[in-house]
Amino acid sequence: MSEYHVPVLLSESLEHLAIKPDGIYVDVTFGGGGHSREIINRLDDKGHLFAFDQDEDAVKNLWEDQRMTLIVSNFRHLSRWMKYYGVSGKVDSILADLGVSSYQFDNPERGFSYRFDEPLDMRMNQKQSLTAADALNDYDVQQLQNMFSEYGEITNARTLAQQIIQARTSSPINTTGQLVSIAEQVLRGPKMQYLSKLFQALRIEINDEMGALKEMLRGAEEVLKPGGRLVVISYHSLEDRLAKRFFKSGNFEGEPDTDFFGKKTVGWKVITKNPLEANTEEQKLNPRSRSAKMRVAKKQ
Ligand SMILES: C[S@@+](CC[C@H](N)C(=O)[O-])C[C@H]1O[C@@H](n2cnc3c(N)ncnc32)[C@H](O)[C@@H]1O
Repeated sequence: MSEYHVPVLLSESLEHLAIKPDGIYVDVTFGGGGHSREIINRLDDKGHLFAFDQDEDAVKNLWEDQRMTLIVSNFRHLSRWMKYYGVSGKVDSILADLGVSSYQFDNPERGFSYRFDEPLDMRMNQKQSLTAADALNDYDVQQLQNMFSEYGEITNARTLAQQIIQARTSSPINTTGQLVSIAEQVLRGPKMQYLSKLFQALRIEINDEMGALKEMLRGAEEVLKPGGRLVVISYHSLEDRLAKRFFKSGNFEGEPDTDFFGKKTVGWKVITKNPLEANTEEQKLNPRSRSAKMRVAKKQ
């Protein structure tokens, strides 16, 4: 399991999930099952854990346990699945440990990293048709620019988009190596930082990560019971901002929802005013934990 993924902020997330042995829990990002395993360990025969992962490779981390159901689906369908299993409105706590697993990131075939020269894939769900290569070869200059500036916060997004359009006129861009050489001609600032932002932007776009997160957060509000908790661990500022706004204001724009009389109607009580981060020891042992931010809220 540790080879697939080392769970981040494990004890902190378990504490905030406030697990009761006979409760109903959801881990929307099963991955290597590190968090799920510890949740299950705290349940008795009446308790149940529903887990989600859209990557079929994660299924190999599943173990035999009647207290657990793994749903191979995008977590954006959380609310629909919980209705299907008859537990909507009855869920005690939900965990979302966002992004890609170390297995996905470190596996050259998946095309998530600029460290390898491999096909530009980046799909978390292998059944999806759109790949990173498709976007790079088919998007127009404006679509490319928007993706780079919005999801990668790349300052010279227009120049990079134009460079890509020009490069693909001679041959299609199919590998991470080709993309790195194109970016090298226009990059600004430290190379690794620039490439990380570029690869992050593509990954967020291909997997519609922001769209899926919004749908899941709204779904969580529906399926949790009053007093139920939602724990969100994010790894970049765009995700963290969405979770923060949603908890504080009940929407993604940041202005609190109000009723007819102007009274706030936000459905959440924020438990962590400031996000929790991994301690120095965890950061030393697991570099991936360095960017982690955990936010917790309780459904009113
Ligand atoms: C950071 S890993 C989770 C690691 C897990 N907590 C552990 O301890 O092993 C994120 C996982 O969530 C999955 N994932 C990301 N976005 C998803 C989505 N929208 N729907 C379903 N699964 C998703 C990824 O495929 C990946 O396996």
